[in-house]
Order: sequence, then structure tokens, then C-alpha cells
Amino acid sequence: MTLIVLGIETSCDETGAALVRVDGEVLSDVVQSQVKLHAPYGGVVPELASRDHLRNVEPVLVEAAARAGMKLGDVDGVAVTCRPGLSGALLVGVQAARGLAWALEKPLVGVDHLVGHLLSPFLRFANVECPAAPEYPFVALLASGGHTALYRVDASSVDAIRELGATRDDAAGEAFDKVAKLLGLGYPGGPVIDRLAKEGNPDTVDLIWPMRQKNSFEFSFSGLKTDVMRWVERNGRPGNDQTLRDLCAGFQRRVVDTLVGKAVLAAEREGVRTLVLAGGVAANRELRERALAAATARGIRLVVPPFRACTDNAAMIAYAGAQRLARGERDTELEISPNTALPRVTRKGRGERTARA
Ligand code: KG4
Ligand code: ZN
Repeated sequence: MTLIVLGIETSCDETGAALVRVDGEVLSDVVQSQVKLHAPYGGVVPELASRDHLRNVEPVLVEAAARAGMKLGDVDGVAVTCRPGLSGALLVGVQAARGLAWALEKPLVGVDHLVGHLLSPFLRFANVECPAAPEYPFVALLASGGHTALYRVDASSVDAIRELGATRDDAAGEAFDKVAKLLGLGYPGGPVIDRLAKEGNPDTVDLIWPMRQKNSFEFSFSGLKTDVMRWVERNGRPGNDQTLRDLCAGFQRRVVDTLVGKAVLAAEREGVRTLVLAGGVAANRELRERALAAATARGIRLVVPPFRACTDNAAMIAYAGAQRLARGERDTELEISPNTALPRVTRKGRGERTARA
């Protein structure tokens, strides 16, 4: 029998529900984005997020079943993101999943959102071109609005995934968003900066390079963001002109260069033959191009899932949950947590790292 699992995702600003087979085939994948709701604030407002999840979770679930041509009662289990994320937002999904699993008498499993992202290259969407799934072990660069880290992934379970290094401060997507806000470009910042950078010259603006040391897999983007801020203080905010495009290109080049350099080095050092890009920042055109060139030059295969698999979605949660269910795992109690369960490198003197992923 092929397991079919219902996945629910409400950890940040997307309400998602999806029906996915254990082999990765996506039967339906519904995402209700809150981007417009949070846009005026330049970032996610936790209280608004929880309320919107509460409004949307039921319609999204109903839609996911309808699009798959199934009843919710036909699924073999329910998987839900229980960490990391905004507590109030996570709670909405977890309560919905608990209620459904109880009413439908189906097994329930909690999923770490980061594991979902790392397994996203295994998803197969109908009518969407998907690269062949990676083979274990692989190294993955997860770069999103809430998280930027490198992982070695040996299998689908939490204990077979190891963090090789993470950002000490801002996530890459967060840096894109903050710089865009600084330049009056709106939210989310990544897509706009990506577009403007295409017509800019990255070498005309003098900005710092963020932590390019070859011996570390840690990242830091907040210094670069501050440097852009100082540039604006000195020169004024550029209008919609070539200077703006050059500034965007300079900023993006520095972020991409750092991400690609460390990701490829990590794959080489770990002796794996596949590098995966995951998270919303994997949509970045320059990141994809440069990662492909750098990986290919070293005989490493680059796997970039389609955009809808990279950004927050419930299909990756359903897939990760299906792997747990297939191993016979069940959760009787589900605790939510703002932190990931993946083992992390500990750093003295640093506060809790950002929980959003
Ligand atoms: O994974 P995601 O949908 O949400 C979480 O943060 O969990 O990622 C959203 C992030 C935002 O910070 C957005 O600015 C960034 O991904 N992003 C991009 C691009 N498209 C989205 N960053 C750079 N270039 C892009 N084309
Ligand atoms: Zn995410």
C-alpha cells in the first residue's frame, strides 16, 4: 500500500495543506500566503500571522482534499510542523492536526520545518519540471527569510542530519528584506533586488564582503546590511536609477558569492556528490547560476527544487511526515517549540538564533 499523508504548515506567514505520497508524488498542495498582510510592516507580525492562520486553516484543508479528489478521511496519517516557528502560528496548525487525527482516527506525526525544507528536492509536482531526486548523502544549503545554514543529510530522519554551520546573525533572506526596506523597495525584498541587480554592475559600489573565510561554514550578513545603510547615509537613498541597480547588484553579489563559496566547499569537504539548494532564497537567479557553475566545475551535481518547493509549503511537511510514518513512528503528544530539533553548533555568548525558517 502506498502511504498518503496530509501535511499542515503554519509556522510563519504561509498557511499550507497538502496531500503527498510517501514516494514524493504531490497530489495537492495549497498555500495561502500572508505576504500582503505583512507587507506594510516590512516583516512578519506574529499576532497578525496567528489570526490569519486561524481564519485560513480550515478552507485550505478543504481545498487540499478537493484538489486531490479525495476525502480527508482517506489519508493514512497527518503530519504537521511543530517546530521551529512562531509559537502562536505553530499552535494553530498543531491544534488543527490534533483535532483531525483524533476525529479521523489516523496517526499523527510532528515535523521539524527545517527537515521539510531539506527533503523538498524529493517532491514531484504534476505539470512542474522537477530535477531527479538527490541521492543520500548530500549537502544542502538552506537559505530562507528565517534561516541560513549548511547541512549534511545522510537520510530523512532528524538524527541523520547534521548542521555544518549557520548564520551568526541575519538569515540571507532577512538581509535581502532589510536592505530592500532600507532602499524603499517593499517586502519581500529578494525578488525586487534580484530583478534590479540583473541590470546593475556589482563592482561600482564599495561594500564589505561578509565572512568569506575558507575555514568556516558560518555566515554573517548583518555587517553587510549595516554597510549598505552607511552607504545610504553618506550618499542618500538612490532614486530608481542606475545607482540603485548597481547597489543591488553589489549587495547581491556579496551574499551569493559567500553562499556559493561555502556551500561548494562543504560538499567537497564532506565528500558528497550532490549539493541541494533549498529555501526561498534558492529562487535567486544569480545564486542558481553561480552555484551551478561552481558545482559543475568540481564534478558535483546541483539540485534545485522548483520554486514552489523552495518557499514555505505543506507538501514538504507531508513528505517528511510520510517518511516518519513509514518507519513506524507516531507522536502521541506534540510539543511546539521555537527551535529546531536538528543538532546545532553551539556558540558561546550568542543569544537564541532566529526561529523563523
Ligand atoms: O522560504 P521562504 O518562503 O520563507 C521563509 O522565510 O521561511 O523564504 C522567503 C525569503 C524572503 O526573505 C525573500 O526575500 C527571499 O526568500 N527570496 C529571495 C528571492 N525570492 C524570495 N531572495 C533572493 N532572491 C530571490 N529571487
Ligand atoms: Zn521555511
